[in-house]
Amino acid sequence: MAFFTLIPKKDHILLLDQRLLPGTTRYIRIRTYRDAFDGIRQMAVRGAPAIGVTAAFGVWLGARSIRTNDPRRYLAELEKMCRHLISARPTAYNLSWAVNRMLGVARSGRQTPSTTAAALYKEAVRMYHEDIDANRKMGAFGARLIKNNSTVLTHCNAGALATAGYGTALGVLRSAQEAGKHIRIFADETRPFLQGARLTAWELQQDGFDVTLITDNMAGWMMKQGLINACVVGADRIAANGDVANKVGTYSVAVLARVHGIPFYVAAPSSTFDPAIATGSGIVIEERPVHEVITIAGKQIAPNGIKVRNPAFDVTPAKYITALITEKGVIFPPYKKGIRALLG
Ligand code: MRU
Repeated sequence: MAFFTLIPKKDHILLLDQRLLPGTTRYIRIRTYRDAFDGIRQMAVRGAPAIGVTAAFGVWLGARSIRTNDPRRYLAELEKMCRHLISARPTAYNLSWAVNRMLGVARSGRQTPSTTAAALYKEAVRMYHEDIDANRKMGAFGARLIKNNSTVLTHCNAGALATAGYGTALGVLRSAQEAGKHIRIFADETRPFLQGARLTAWELQQDGFDVTLITDNMAGWMMKQGLINACVVGADRIAANGDVANKVGTYSVAVLARVHGIPFYVAAPSSTFDPAIATGSGIVIEERPVHEVITIAGKQIAPNGIKVRNPAFDVTPAKYITALITEKGVIFPPYKKGIRALLG
């Protein structure tokens, strides 16, 4: 891979600005927790696991800036920053999961204001490496489900760009290829933000995959012609019953896959599973700005004043999902028991 999503440095992090891809490869410097918030909110970094790891470093940067030695005031200031970070994007569970894990370190009796920032840096680096490790393990489990010579459809970008590295759904495809399987990939362009066209197509092409870009409305016809053998996508939040929130359009792909008898897999680390939410109906769906829908590459494509909806995610009911691929193994339906075992 010729790029890194995030590079930790001694007093800042570098984030690959994904808004500029595929045309420009530029890193932005994140020096404060507010920079981290903006990077996440404005989607310089996106993808649930990458958002989580960025936020973890954001907590560290926030801690570095606190100027009091009073432990209670120190923690109160840090908690305020954490609440702000968590509000950047509501659907990706990895965000609150990562921030709360960082808070756990800060709250541990062993830390004082003078030692907390160093402990938080260590924890963020640990999460960064754990994410890559989880993706590799997930990839190895998932690769067994992908048959040699198959064509796989993916939606959005659940690749190295959406994680600390290697990817979830694309990690499965990387692993399958590394295992010697010959696979072709169809990438949905993924309107409105075009993560499929701009990011998945770019990252897979960089790595020499046989990748074909289609617009979102072409998936059904490709399936009807027998051109797709499996679907693999990522997830932003998975409820306790296995319902999956992922990039809007995932639900349509899952329903189409069911109608055409095609397996539909979701690959996600355990940090994406939210045990506090019983079913998908409890998942908050982020509504994003109107301009993402009425413009393409900055050019307006709809009339002024038109009414617009822009839900960034949808929820795919568990009944349409063939299996959930995690770093601890593959979970098949019924999901409730398997998810409970996964989260221990
Ligand atoms: O709005 P985005 O680009 O953050 O949405 C990303 C997705 O929906 C991904 O599929 C999901 O986060 C899984 S990434 C491993």
